[in-house]
Amino acid sequence: MTAEPKSIEGASGAAAEPFAAYAAARVLVTGGLGFIGSNLARRLAALGAEVLVLDNRLPGSGANAANLAGAEGRIAVVEADVRCAKALRPHLEGRHYLFNLAAQTSHQGSMEEPLPDLDINCRAQLQLLELCRAVNPEIGIVFASTRQIYGRPDYLPVDEAHPVRPPDVNGIAKAAGEAFHLLYHRVYGMRCTALRLTNTYGPRMRIKDARQTFLGVWLRALLEGRSFEVWGGAQTRDLTYVEDAVDAFLHAALSPALCGRAANVGGDGPVSLSALAEMLIAANGGGSFVIRDFPEARRRIDIGDYCADDRLLRRATGWRPRTSLADGLARSLAFFREHLQDYV
Ligand SMILES: NC(=O)c1ccc[n+]([C@@H]2O[C@H](COP(=O)([O-])OP(=O)(O)OC[C@H]3O[C@@H](n4cnc5c(N)ncnc54)[C@H](O)[C@@H]3O)[C@@H](O)[C@H]2O)c1
Repeated sequence: MTAEPKSIEGASGAAAEPFAAYAAARVLVTGGLGFIGSNLARRLAALGAEVLVLDNRLPGSGANAANLAGAEGRIAVVEADVRCAKALRPHLEGRHYLFNLAAQTSHQGSMEEPLPDLDINCRAQLQLLELCRAVNPEIGIVFASTRQIYGRPDYLPVDEAHPVRPPDVNGIAKAAGEAFHLLYHRVYGMRCTALRLTNTYGPRMRIKDARQTFLGVWLRALLEGRSFEVWGGAQTRDLTYVEDAVDAFLHAALSPALCGRAANVGGDGPVSLSALAEMLIAANGGGSFVIRDFPEARRRIDIGDYCADDRLLRRATGWRPRTSLADGLARSLAFFREHLQDYV
């Protein structure tokens, strides 16, 4: 059950050239006020794309107007719900690419309120695909899926052939949302790809609480001079820095080899939560944490250890994570140190 170390490409490997296709592209990002969507929208705008963000500012999500601060002139925002076909339809027409990130993302939230999760992550996804089929069947779609759909891994690193066995309502709904996208490729030839993301972190993530990621509350506590709690500590995770996740989306939409496929996105290799806590404290230059037992409700849906085998994505697109965990943590701390008031 050990995972091979993964290679990290130096920052000099970042080339704008592979993404030249976005320079004149008309792009829609659902969920673009949220953490990953806003980083993606900003990057697309910087590449010269005409970007429209569609987001309903779902309470409890990572939606935050500050996420698009400074980019208002370059990114248009429409406040609309992906569950509403009438609101969605006009924004699909004439678009070259759809990055489909709108979602209810809280695992525990999906257990407490399962039906809204099902509506957004499953039913609305099928409706969106039907709309695309009707008004813009040529559009290139990348769906943000999740490693949560694998559940507790049978082996590590987890490749795409691993059984899909979601541990919670969110995982089942996301698995169905992903499956609809791949089905619309198989049956209608639509250009749909899914990326199975792992824990993603970085500037613009939700740090107010642990709804989006445990790392968010850790980081907030450190910046506010408080100790934070690590639940368990021995479980391992494979974290992706958000700019690397953004690169994965940009590559995926341009890769014919990934049409109709779901590809894992990993990071810098596995790290235990206690080692991660130590790294965060080192990057911050001080701080402390305490190890606590998992609360019972969380233990029931925890997936244990995870590490992604993302060779499919690497081989199909040349994508590599470019940010080491140490650098990513330092950059995240620097961002939130400067913008803390917008996020707490
Ligand atoms: N962050 C991670 O670690 C991670 C891991 C795996 C998968 N993902 C997937 O990546 C995507 C983005 O996640 P994120 O971390 O940026 O979450 P986020 O909560 O920051 O962003 C999601 C955005 O979707 C919007 N949204 C929710 N429901 C909507 C609706 N009905 N209509 C319109 N907009 C709606 C929210 O307002 C929010 O701005 C999601 O699909 C998520 O499942 C994220």
